[in-house]
Amino acid sequence: MCGIVGYTGPREAYPVILKGLKRLEYRGYDSAGVALLNSGLKVYKKKGKVADLEESLIGKDVHANIGIGHTRWATHGEPNDRNAHPHLSASGRLSMIHNGIIENYALIKKELLSKGYAFKSDTDTEVLLNFIDEIQQHNDCSLEEAVRVALKRVVGAYCILLIDKEDPHTIIAARKGSPLVIGIGKGEHFLASDATPIIEYTKEVVYVNDYELAIVRPDELILKNLGNEKITPYITKLDMDLAAIEKGGYEHFMLKEIFEQPKTIYDCLRGRLDVANGTITMAGVENYMEQLKNAPRIIIIACGTSWHAGLVAEYVIEDLCRIPVEVEYASEFRYRNPVVNKGDVIIAISQSGETADTLVAIEKAKEQGAIIFGVVNAVGSSIARASHAGAYTHSGPEIGVASTKAFTGQLAVLNMIALKIAKVKGTISDERYHNLLAELEAVPEKVEAILENADAVKAIAEKYKDSSDALFLGRGYNFPVALEGALKLKEISYIHAEGYPAAEMKHGPIALVTETLPVVFVATKDSYHEKVVSNMQEIKARRGKVISIITEGDNISPTLSDDVFVVPPADEVIAPMLSVIPLQLLSYYAGTAKGYNVDMPRNLAKSVTVE
Ligand code: AGP
Ligand code: GLU
Repeated sequence: MCGIVGYTGPREAYPVILKGLKRLEYRGYDSAGVALLNSGLKVYKKKGKVADLEESLIGKDVHANIGIGHTRWATHGEPNDRNAHPHLSASGRLSMIHNGIIENYALIKKELLSKGYAFKSDTDTEVLLNFIDEIQQHNDCSLEEAVRVALKRVVGAYCILLIDKEDPHTIIAARKGSPLVIGIGKGEHFLASDATPIIEYTKEVVYVNDYELAIVRPDELILKNLGNEKITPYITKLDMDLAAIEKGGYEHFMLKEIFEQPKTIYDCLRGRLDVANGTITMAGVENYMEQLKNAPRIIIIACGTSWHAGLVAEYVIEDLCRIPVEVEYASEFRYRNPVVNKGDVIIAISQSGETADTLVAIEKAKEQGAIIFGVVNAVGSSIARASHAGAYTHSGPEIGVASTKAFTGQLAVLNMIALKIAKVKGTISDERYHNLLAELEAVPEKVEAILENADAVKAIAEKYKDSSDALFLGRGYNFPVALEGALKLKEISYIHAEGYPAAEMKHGPIALVTETLPVVFVATKDSYHEKVVSNMQEIKARRGKVISIITEGDNISPTLSDDVFVVPPADEVIAPMLSVIPLQLLSYYAGTAKGYNVDMPRNLAKSVTVE
């Protein structure tokens, strides 16, 4: 998920690696480190920024012609010095860096502990490293062979670079699910998560594929599959500039993160959702299942987009678990004198995990005896640490100020939590339970299909970009999505937009309807659909412009709409993960059509750590 850099050749490795890690800073991270191999294997690493690492190394021996460097986005183990990468094997012979998640690390760790291995960190990475170390020591084989054997056992995602104290010129690299690019120099090679650390040295690169392993020396690059068969490296010539590469070829981080959602939703479900066996594995939920299923009330506390995720969760949890839910703006909750009864469970939702209002609100609830369950993206963040238990969304760093992939990650986690509780409480039929598991599993593919039609949303955005106002309407599960769509349009295109329950129009807002007012209906097929169609008719009768987000096969809504965007069918519980995608795109394309800086909109900050 974060930054990897490696170098082997005639240059001083440390400056190349340090500069490369700085090139990868845009990917967001919590700690950084380097391993350098010269007279001995030296590992320097610490929590914080690359600049902090650099400052700590002033005056240190950093001479080497081979090395690896890492910026960490923690998934297993708090962000701190000992959990930072590179890790050193128990034998002291190997050092490794890793991007990704080793899902079956706990089982492997248990085996290694029984063999007398001790661990310095809490990471899954150190487990894989010592697994490789154990194989190499036990079989007296090459590092390359040990890595190959180990990776055949690994479940999860990885890009790993390893160096061996006894082989001062070779870097062993492998990937599955996390990116790896190798730059081809003259008598030197560069390795990195993407081309940004490489492009200033060479434009000739090899993109390593899943299940491939690279043996990299200054004047040699050997590529093999895990069956030890050689693969001819396919050399590509880079034609993008540095800025473009940082965004993966997308014009903005926001667009990159919208398009990452099939993968980030998959990453959130990975290792947890098992449709075949009908299980959802979430240790944080299991450890507090008694408190969750017996909670007299669940209070969801959040801000902004995370608050909208909480509103969706209110419908899901009440519908499936039959537990009363209240959704609170953190800023309102913390200044009120709220009633929090013993046994109440607080679900705190936050992408950054550092939102001051949310943090203070949950501390206040904790003082009154509530259990705090955190749904957070940033591992080891303040809100995660302030929670009794939790579940990470594993959406990876979200750089764009507008929250997009984190929102769908939150919905994925909240749906899994609700399904686990409903299953234990017996408030959901087996059939509906298994159907919803399958529906969740199908979300990444359906989001992919929606994104393939992004241009249709772009056309709609360009048609309405000069509107002064907009309304977003929805009912039931789609009402919070309407609110989210309005927030996105406001913060990215600066068009004043309001979200409303569709049925509320007749209680006042319908006075706003004119022939120039775009009204966006989140109208996917659900138990409210007929009523929503009536609301569309009310708008049309007053010559309003109707834009509808509808389900494939809906032949009625288009007859009442000026513009339509179609999404694949899904159960109403799951539909918000789909219907929000066109609204994310609508705000993005409206903002870019108006020439705004959509990654850093005016007046906004990515993490609101002020009160
Ligand atoms: C979302 O697009 C906004 N940038 C903002 O409302 C954000 O959701 C809010 O500040 C909460 O942030 P958090 O999820 O990191 O707590
Ligand atoms: N899972 C590893 C850890 O938590 C790697 C995280 C990353 O990709 O930066 O240390």
